[in-house]
Amino acid sequence: MTDLSVPTAKPEHEGVAIPPPLWLLAELTYRCPLHCVFCYNPTNYAEHNRELDTAQWIDVLRQARELGAAQLGFSGGEPLLRDDLETLVAEARKLGFYTNLITSGIGLTDKRLGALKEAGLDHIQLSFQDSTQELNDFLSHTKTFDLKNRVAKLIKAHDFPMVLNCVLHRYNLPHIGRIIDMALEMGAEYLELANTQYYGWAHANRAQLMPTGDQLKEAEAIVERYRKEIGDKCKIFFVVPDYYETRPKRCMNGWGQVFLGIAPDGAALPCHTARALPGLTFPNVTETSVREIWYESDAFNRFRGFGWMKEPCRSCDEKTIDLGGCRCQAYLLTQDPANADPVCDKSPHHERVIEVVRAASTRQEPQEQPIVFRNDANSRRFAERASPQEGGEKTP
Ligand code: FES
Repeated sequence: MTDLSVPTAKPEHEGVAIPPPLWLLAELTYRCPLHCVFCYNPTNYAEHNRELDTAQWIDVLRQARELGAAQLGFSGGEPLLRDDLETLVAEARKLGFYTNLITSGIGLTDKRLGALKEAGLDHIQLSFQDSTQELNDFLSHTKTFDLKNRVAKLIKAHDFPMVLNCVLHRYNLPHIGRIIDMALEMGAEYLELANTQYYGWAHANRAQLMPTGDQLKEAEAIVERYRKEIGDKCKIFFVVPDYYETRPKRCMNGWGQVFLGIAPDGAALPCHTARALPGLTFPNVTETSVREIWYESDAFNRFRGFGWMKEPCRSCDEKTIDLGGCRCQAYLLTQDPANADPVCDKSPHHERVIEVVRAASTRQEPQEQPIVFRNDANSRRFAERASPQEGGEKTP
């Protein structure tokens, strides 16, 4: 059992207190019945196929709660593939977490919903790939559209608050009105329209998925119209893709500030896709306490504060707002995670983002590579290749 005794010194970095990890994401498994082309799991996930057992997960939950974690997401892969999910939810409830199940819905039967309700699950986020069967099934490489519709009804029958999540890109942006109608018909309290962010499998499929500026403008206008019409009936979030911005996002609200992700094998990550970054060793909860990982590990301290920044971030008067943007994006586009996120138009690498956007609008980006589905065979091929980076991560 891990030592949970509270150290006396207040943990800090560069003289500033380190806040507790409020948001814990438990990625229970990388196994998934779907094969989504924009999955944010690492492209080489097949290399990391070990999974923590039930007792190990419970220990992680207990340790994170001791540190102050309050929100807990159960994710994957597909977390329903773990038959101890109900046990983990019950334990989380006992510890006082607010719990959210992030699921494709595959495997979410009436019986399991009843058991999850009983265990104290607070919230369910159900993903759809589109409002049409054809595109939903194409993008996930499964026949799951009808099943997801049935699951949405069951979730509401069990009286769970529901977020419908739909990842947006050039294929389904033209359907945005129908996607909103679908969420309203299903009685979703929230609709998350998350434009694809280009990491993991989405980065490998960027040429196919990147929308045009006109598509985005039209979609935003439709979302605005719906928001006015429906008021509070369903809260719609529309997340603009980074590549169309000129200032970077404050990714994860800061590296090692709020978010603690635990991968299926127990690796602790400051963001979902950090595993792709070179030069960092991510500590594992099977070897190191969560307290030590959060407050003392090199991986979590590396991009805290401002000391790691290079120019132009170092002397930028906006650095306290965006914290230099996203480390993973900086790496994918410039091969150095300590560079400014090139989404920023002050970055000397901003032209790379402009080129991608321009190519998407004129359809100039090479289309010779086929779309790559997330599956074990493709993942093993990615794993055999060099780590993913700009120009390097193409067809496996
Ligand atoms: Fe890793 Fe932004 S996704 S820091």
